[in-house]
Amino acid sequence: MDKIETQIGGIEKIDEAVRLLHEGEVVVIPTETVYGLAANALNAKAVKKIFLAKGRPQDNPLIVHIEDANKAKMVAVDIPESAYLLWEEFSPGPLTIVLKKHPLVPYVTTAGLETVGIRIPNNELALETIRRSNLPLAAPSANISGRVSPTEARFVYDDMNGKIPLILDGGPCKVGIESTVLDLTKETPTILRPGAITEDMLSACLGKVVNHKGKVVRAASPGMKYAHYKPMCACFAAKTSDEAKELYNHFTNSLVIARQDFLDTCDVDNKIHLGETPEECMRNYFRILRENENIYDVIIIESFENEPQYLALQNRIAKATEKPDKI
Ligand code: TXA
Ligand code: MG
Repeated sequence: MDKIETQIGGIEKIDEAVRLLHEGEVVVIPTETVYGLAANALNAKAVKKIFLAKGRPQDNPLIVHIEDANKAKMVAVDIPESAYLLWEEFSPGPLTIVLKKHPLVPYVTTAGLETVGIRIPNNELALETIRRSNLPLAAPSANISGRVSPTEARFVYDDMNGKIPLILDGGPCKVGIESTVLDLTKETPTILRPGAITEDMLSACLGKVVNHKGKVVRAASPGMKYAHYKPMCACFAAKTSDEAKELYNHFTNSLVIARQDFLDTCDVDNKIHLGETPEECMRNYFRILRENENIYDVIIIESFENEPQYLALQNRIAKATEKPDKI
Protein backbone atom coordinates (compact mmCIF):
# COMPACT_ATOMS: atom_id res chain seq x y z
CA MET A 1 0.00 0.00 0.00
CA ASP A 2 1.34 3.48 -0.90
CA LYS A 3 1.97 5.69 2.09
CA ILE A 4 -0.34 8.72 2.13
CA GLU A 5 -0.47 11.80 4.30
CA THR A 6 -3.00 11.50 7.12
CA GLN A 7 -4.74 14.70 8.20
CA ILE A 8 -6.57 15.25 11.48
CA GLY A 9 -9.36 17.84 11.74
CA GLY A 10 -12.69 18.70 13.31
CA ILE A 11 -16.00 20.03 12.06
CA GLU A 12 -14.26 22.17 9.40
CA LYS A 13 -13.15 18.96 7.67
CA ILE A 14 -16.61 17.42 7.26
CA ASP A 15 -16.96 18.57 3.64
CA GLU A 16 -13.61 17.03 2.82
CA ALA A 17 -14.63 13.82 4.59
CA VAL A 18 -17.81 13.74 2.50
CA ARG A 19 -15.85 14.30 -0.72
CA LEU A 20 -13.41 11.52 0.15
CA LEU A 21 -16.25 9.14 1.02
CA HIS A 22 -17.93 9.85 -2.33
CA GLU A 23 -14.62 9.12 -4.05
CA GLY A 24 -14.54 5.69 -2.40
CA GLU A 25 -11.90 6.56 0.20
CA VAL A 26 -11.73 5.61 3.89
CA VAL A 27 -12.19 8.28 6.57
CA VAL A 28 -12.13 7.95 10.36
CA ILE A 29 -15.21 9.17 12.24
CA PRO A 30 -15.63 9.58 15.98
CA THR A 31 -18.57 7.81 17.63
CA GLU A 32 -19.71 7.67 21.25
CA THR A 33 -18.30 4.13 21.61
CA VAL A 34 -14.96 4.03 19.78
CA TYR A 35 -13.58 5.64 16.61
CA GLY A 36 -14.67 4.01 13.33
CA LEU A 37 -12.87 3.46 10.02
CA ALA A 38 -15.61 4.47 7.59
CA ALA A 39 -16.35 3.97 3.89
CA ASN A 40 -19.43 3.88 1.65
CA ALA A 41 -21.10 0.62 2.71
CA LEU A 42 -22.60 0.15 -0.77
CA ASN A 43 -19.24 0.42 -2.59
CA ALA A 44 -17.41 -2.92 -2.50
CA LYS A 45 -14.10 -1.39 -3.62
CA ALA A 46 -14.22 1.26 -0.88
CA VAL A 47 -15.10 -1.31 1.76
CA LYS A 48 -12.17 -3.50 0.69
CA LYS A 49 -9.89 -0.58 1.60
CA ILE A 50 -11.15 -0.78 5.20
CA PHE A 51 -10.14 -4.44 5.43
CA LEU A 52 -6.74 -3.57 3.93
CA ALA A 53 -6.05 -0.63 6.29
CA LYS A 54 -6.98 -2.70 9.38
CA GLY A 55 -5.50 -5.99 8.24
CA ARG A 56 -8.91 -7.45 9.09
CA PRO A 57 -9.87 -11.05 8.21
CA GLN A 58 -12.33 -11.10 5.28
CA ASP A 59 -14.88 -13.18 7.17
CA ASN A 60 -15.54 -10.57 9.84
CA PRO A 61 -18.57 -8.42 8.90
CA LEU A 62 -18.73 -4.63 9.30
CA ILE A 63 -21.38 -2.55 11.03
CA VAL A 64 -23.27 -0.10 8.79
CA HIS A 65 -23.90 3.35 10.28
CA ILE A 66 -26.98 5.40 9.35
CA GLU A 67 -28.31 8.69 10.70
CA ASP A 68 -31.87 7.69 11.55
CA ALA A 69 -34.23 4.73 11.54
CA ASN A 70 -35.93 5.87 8.31
CA LYS A 71 -32.72 5.09 6.42
CA ALA A 72 -32.62 1.46 7.56
CA LYS A 73 -34.62 0.46 4.45
CA MET A 74 -31.58 1.41 2.32
CA VAL A 75 -29.56 -1.45 3.80
CA ALA A 76 -32.03 -3.98 5.27
CA VAL A 77 -35.24 -5.79 4.24
CA ASP A 78 -38.09 -7.39 6.24
CA ILE A 79 -37.40 -5.04 9.16
CA PRO A 80 -39.49 -6.16 12.15
CA GLU A 81 -41.48 -3.75 14.31
CA SER A 82 -39.16 -4.62 17.21
CA ALA A 83 -36.26 -2.91 15.41
CA TYR A 84 -38.19 0.36 15.26
CA LEU A 85 -39.12 0.01 18.94
CA LEU A 86 -35.44 -0.35 19.78
CA TRP A 87 -34.36 2.59 17.64
CA GLU A 88 -37.12 4.70 19.23
CA GLU A 89 -35.79 3.83 22.68
CA PHE A 90 -32.00 3.65 22.22
CA SER A 91 -31.00 5.62 19.14
CA PRO A 92 -28.82 7.38 18.51
CA GLY A 93 -26.80 5.17 20.82
CA PRO A 94 -24.48 2.20 21.36
CA LEU A 95 -26.74 -0.50 19.89
CA THR A 96 -26.17 -2.46 16.66
CA ILE A 97 -29.14 -4.39 15.28
CA VAL A 98 -28.56 -7.35 12.96
CA LEU A 99 -31.24 -7.64 10.25
CA LYS A 100 -31.71 -9.30 6.85
CA LYS A 101 -29.51 -7.45 4.37
CA HIS A 102 -30.73 -5.45 1.38
CA PRO A 103 -29.53 -6.91 -1.97
CA LEU A 104 -27.66 -3.66 -2.69
CA VAL A 105 -25.32 -4.17 0.28
CA PRO A 106 -22.28 -5.98 -1.12
CA TYR A 107 -21.09 -9.20 0.46
CA VAL A 108 -17.70 -7.67 1.29
CA THR A 109 -19.51 -5.44 3.80
CA THR A 110 -21.33 -8.36 5.46
CA ALA A 111 -18.46 -10.83 4.97
CA GLY A 112 -20.68 -13.08 2.88
CA LEU A 113 -23.59 -13.10 5.35
CA GLU A 114 -27.24 -12.54 4.38
CA THR A 115 -27.55 -10.26 7.41
CA VAL A 116 -26.28 -6.76 8.15
CA GLY A 117 -25.50 -4.98 11.43
CA ILE A 118 -26.96 -1.46 11.59
CA ARG A 119 -26.16 1.30 14.08
CA ILE A 120 -27.09 4.97 14.61
CA PRO A 121 -24.09 6.48 16.41
CA ASN A 122 -24.60 9.18 19.05
CA ASN A 123 -21.99 11.64 17.86
CA GLU A 124 -22.75 14.88 16.00
CA LEU A 125 -19.61 14.80 13.78
CA ALA A 126 -20.44 11.27 12.69
CA LEU A 127 -24.13 11.99 12.17
CA GLU A 128 -23.39 15.16 10.20
CA THR A 129 -20.91 13.29 7.99
CA ILE A 130 -23.51 10.60 7.28
CA ARG A 131 -26.25 13.20 6.63
CA ARG A 132 -24.16 15.35 4.30
CA SER A 133 -22.77 12.36 2.40
CA ASN A 134 -26.21 10.73 2.23
CA LEU A 135 -24.39 7.38 2.40
CA PRO A 136 -24.63 4.45 4.79
CA LEU A 137 -21.13 4.10 6.25
CA ALA A 138 -19.55 0.74 6.96
CA ALA A 139 -17.21 1.22 9.90
CA PRO A 140 -15.33 -1.18 12.16
CA SER A 141 -13.32 0.12 15.10
CA ALA A 142 -10.40 2.19 13.74
CA ASN A 143 -7.58 0.04 15.16
CA ILE A 144 -5.24 -2.40 13.47
CA SER A 145 -7.04 -5.76 13.64
CA GLY A 146 -6.66 -7.45 17.03
CA ARG A 147 -5.41 -4.33 18.81
CA VAL A 148 -7.15 -2.21 21.44
CA SER A 149 -10.03 -0.10 20.06
CA PRO A 150 -9.18 3.62 19.87
CA THR A 151 -11.17 6.06 22.01
CA GLU A 152 -9.21 9.17 20.98
CA ALA A 153 -7.91 10.50 17.64
CA ARG A 154 -4.27 10.19 18.79
CA PHE A 155 -4.68 6.43 19.21
CA VAL A 156 -6.22 6.14 15.74
CA TYR A 157 -3.26 8.09 14.37
CA ASP A 158 -0.82 5.61 15.96
CA ASP A 159 -2.46 2.75 14.01
CA MET A 160 -3.58 4.47 10.80
CA ASN A 161 -0.98 7.14 10.03
CA GLY A 162 0.04 6.83 6.36
CA LYS A 163 -2.79 4.44 5.51
CA ILE A 164 -5.84 6.71 5.28
CA PRO A 165 -6.29 10.38 4.25
CA LEU A 166 -8.38 11.84 7.11
CA ILE A 167 -9.26 11.43 10.78
CA LEU A 168 -12.19 13.48 12.12
CA ASP A 169 -11.34 14.31 15.73
CA GLY A 170 -14.37 14.42 18.03
CA GLY A 171 -12.46 14.25 21.32
CA PRO A 172 -12.55 11.31 23.74
CA CYS A 173 -15.39 8.80 23.22
CA LYS A 174 -18.07 9.09 25.91
CA VAL A 175 -18.99 5.40 26.20
CA GLY A 176 -15.56 3.90 25.53
CA ILE A 177 -16.38 0.31 24.55
CA GLU A 178 -18.05 -0.98 21.40
CA SER A 179 -21.81 -1.17 20.88
CA THR A 180 -24.06 -3.99 22.02
CA VAL A 181 -24.75 -6.23 18.99
CA LEU A 182 -28.31 -7.64 18.97
CA ASP A 183 -29.43 -10.17 16.35
CA LEU A 184 -33.11 -9.77 15.42
CA THR A 185 -33.04 -12.43 12.71
CA LYS A 186 -33.32 -15.23 15.30
CA GLU A 187 -36.60 -16.40 16.80
CA THR A 188 -35.63 -14.74 20.07
CA PRO A 189 -33.55 -11.54 19.96
CA THR A 190 -29.98 -12.59 20.75
CA ILE A 191 -27.12 -10.53 22.14
CA LEU A 192 -23.99 -11.34 20.12
CA ARG A 193 -21.71 -8.84 21.85
CA PRO A 194 -22.39 -7.17 25.21
CA GLY A 195 -22.12 -3.38 25.44
CA ALA A 196 -23.44 -0.36 27.32
CA ILE A 197 -27.04 -1.20 26.35
CA THR A 198 -27.59 -4.14 28.68
CA GLU A 199 -29.71 -7.29 28.50
CA ASP A 200 -32.08 -5.79 31.11
CA MET A 201 -32.55 -2.61 29.09
CA LEU A 202 -33.27 -4.65 25.95
CA SER A 203 -35.67 -7.04 27.67
CA ALA A 204 -37.55 -4.11 29.21
CA CYS A 205 -38.20 -2.98 25.65
CA LEU A 206 -38.70 -6.33 23.88
CA GLY A 207 -39.53 -9.01 26.41
CA LYS A 208 -37.30 -12.07 26.23
CA VAL A 209 -33.73 -11.59 25.04
CA VAL A 210 -31.12 -14.33 24.85
CA ASN A 211 -27.60 -13.63 26.00
CA HIS A 212 -25.16 -16.40 25.32
CA LYS A 213 -22.44 -14.53 27.17
CA GLY A 214 -19.99 -15.07 24.38
CA LYS A 215 -20.21 -18.87 24.12
CA VAL A 216 -22.43 -19.94 21.21
CA VAL A 217 -21.90 -16.46 19.83
CA ARG A 218 -18.45 -17.31 18.53
CA ALA A 219 -20.15 -19.06 15.62
CA ALA A 220 -23.03 -16.60 15.25
CA SER A 221 -20.99 -13.40 15.19
CA PRO A 222 -17.89 -14.11 13.14
CA GLY A 223 -15.85 -11.33 14.70
CA MET A 224 -16.10 -12.84 18.16
CA LYS A 225 -13.79 -15.73 17.31
CA TYR A 226 -10.79 -13.53 16.63
CA ALA A 227 -8.30 -12.19 19.13
CA HIS A 228 -9.50 -8.74 20.13
CA TYR A 229 -8.65 -5.80 22.28
CA LYS A 230 -5.14 -7.13 22.82
CA PRO A 231 -2.64 -4.71 24.31
CA MET A 232 1.01 -4.89 23.17
CA CYS A 233 2.04 -6.24 26.59
CA ALA A 234 0.88 -9.27 28.58
CA CYS A 235 -2.36 -8.84 30.56
CA PHE A 236 -3.80 -10.71 33.53
CA ALA A 237 -7.08 -10.41 35.42
CA ALA A 238 -6.96 -10.59 39.23
CA LYS A 239 -9.98 -11.29 41.46
CA THR A 240 -8.38 -9.92 44.63
CA SER A 241 -5.75 -7.33 45.44
CA ASP A 242 -3.60 -10.11 46.97
CA GLU A 243 -3.69 -12.00 43.70
CA ALA A 244 -2.84 -8.78 41.85
CA LYS A 245 0.10 -8.11 44.15
CA GLU A 246 1.41 -11.64 43.72
CA LEU A 247 1.32 -11.31 39.93
CA TYR A 248 2.82 -7.84 40.17
CA ASN A 249 5.79 -9.10 42.16
CA HIS A 250 6.26 -12.11 39.93
CA PHE A 251 7.16 -9.84 37.01
CA THR A 252 9.31 -6.77 36.78
CA ASN A 253 7.77 -3.60 35.36
CA SER A 254 4.09 -4.27 36.04
CA LEU A 255 1.03 -2.07 36.47
CA VAL A 256 -2.27 -2.64 38.31
CA ILE A 257 -5.48 -1.00 37.11
CA ALA A 258 -8.60 -1.22 39.31
CA ARG A 259 -11.25 0.60 41.31
CA GLN A 260 -10.19 2.57 44.39
CA ASP A 261 -10.96 -0.02 47.13
CA PHE A 262 -8.94 -2.61 45.25
CA LEU A 263 -6.02 -0.19 44.79
CA ASP A 264 -6.12 0.89 48.44
CA THR A 265 -5.48 -2.67 49.58
CA CYS A 266 -2.93 -3.42 46.86
CA ASP A 267 0.51 -2.46 48.06
CA VAL A 268 2.34 -1.85 44.77
CA ASP A 269 4.09 1.19 43.27
CA ASN A 270 2.53 1.32 39.81
CA LYS A 271 -1.22 1.61 39.91
CA ILE A 272 -3.89 3.52 38.00
CA HIS A 273 -7.47 4.21 38.99
CA LEU A 274 -9.87 2.70 36.44
CA GLY A 275 -13.04 4.40 37.74
CA GLU A 276 -15.83 3.71 40.22
CA THR A 277 -18.97 3.05 38.17
CA PRO A 278 -19.42 0.71 35.19
CA GLU A 279 -19.81 3.77 32.93
CA GLU A 280 -16.60 5.38 34.20
CA CYS A 281 -14.64 2.14 34.01
CA MET A 282 -15.83 1.47 30.44
CA ARG A 283 -14.93 5.02 29.40
CA ASN A 284 -11.38 4.79 30.77
CA TYR A 285 -10.48 1.18 30.07
CA PHE A 286 -9.20 1.24 26.46
CA ARG A 287 -7.49 4.61 27.00
CA ILE A 288 -5.52 3.33 29.99
CA LEU A 289 -4.47 0.22 28.04
CA ARG A 290 -3.35 2.31 25.05
CA GLU A 291 -1.44 4.76 27.25
CA ASN A 292 0.42 2.04 29.13
CA GLU A 293 0.85 -0.97 26.84
CA ASN A 294 4.25 0.30 25.66
CA ILE A 295 5.44 1.40 29.10
CA TYR A 296 4.83 -1.78 31.10
CA ASP A 297 5.62 -5.42 30.35
CA VAL A 298 2.59 -6.66 32.28
CA ILE A 299 -0.78 -5.07 33.05
CA ILE A 300 -2.93 -6.59 35.82
CA ILE A 301 -6.60 -5.66 35.66
CA GLU A 302 -9.22 -6.03 38.40
CA SER A 303 -11.62 -8.83 37.44
CA PHE A 304 -15.35 -8.03 37.49
CA GLU A 305 -16.36 -11.63 36.97
CA ASN A 306 -19.15 -11.76 39.54
CA GLU A 307 -20.62 -8.33 38.93
CA PRO A 308 -23.32 -8.49 36.23
CA GLN A 309 -23.41 -4.72 35.77
CA TYR A 310 -19.81 -4.94 34.51
CA LEU A 311 -20.57 -7.74 32.01
CA ALA A 312 -19.61 -5.77 28.88
CA LEU A 313 -16.34 -4.55 30.36
CA GLN A 314 -15.53 -8.02 31.74
CA ASN A 315 -16.03 -9.39 28.21
CA ARG A 316 -13.28 -7.02 26.96
CA ILE A 317 -11.04 -7.86 29.92
CA ALA A 318 -11.47 -11.58 29.19
CA LYS A 319 -10.35 -10.94 25.60
CA ALA A 320 -7.32 -8.90 26.66
CA THR A 321 -6.23 -11.58 29.11
CA GLU A 322 -6.96 -14.59 26.86
CA LYS A 323 -3.95 -16.85 26.36
CA PRO A 324 -2.36 -16.49 22.91
CA ASP A 325 -2.96 -20.11 21.84
CA LYS A 326 -6.69 -19.34 21.63
CA ILE A 327 -7.71 -17.51 18.46
O1 TXA B 1 -19.39 0.56 18.67
C1 TXA B 1 -19.19 -0.07 17.63
O2 TXA B 1 -19.92 -1.01 17.27
C2 TXA B 1 -17.98 0.34 16.78
C3 TXA B 1 -18.24 1.75 16.23
C4 TXA B 1 -17.19 2.19 15.26
O3 TXA B 1 -19.50 1.79 15.66
N1 TXA B 1 -17.75 -0.59 15.73
C5 TXA B 1 -17.26 -1.84 15.95
O4 TXA B 1 -17.04 -2.57 14.80
O5 TXA B 1 -17.01 -2.27 17.05
P1 TXA B 1 -16.16 -3.89 14.76
O6 TXA B 1 -16.06 -4.21 13.31
O7 TXA B 1 -14.92 -3.70 15.49
O8 TXA B 1 -17.08 -4.98 15.42
C6 TXA B 1 -18.26 -5.41 14.76
C7 TXA B 1 -18.82 -6.63 15.45
C8 TXA B 1 -18.02 -7.87 15.11
O9 TXA B 1 -17.94 -8.71 16.25
C9 TXA B 1 -18.87 -8.51 14.02
O10 TXA B 1 -18.70 -9.91 13.93
C10 TXA B 1 -20.27 -8.14 14.45
O11 TXA B 1 -20.16 -6.83 14.98
N2 TXA B 1 -21.17 -8.10 13.30
C11 TXA B 1 -21.24 -7.17 12.31
N3 TXA B 1 -22.17 -7.51 11.38
C12 TXA B 1 -22.71 -8.68 11.79
C13 TXA B 1 -23.71 -9.55 11.27
N4 TXA B 1 -24.31 -9.28 10.13
N5 TXA B 1 -23.99 -10.68 11.95
C14 TXA B 1 -23.38 -10.96 13.13
N6 TXA B 1 -22.41 -10.18 13.67
C15 TXA B 1 -22.09 -9.05 13.02
MG1 MG C 1 -13.20 -3.98 16.59
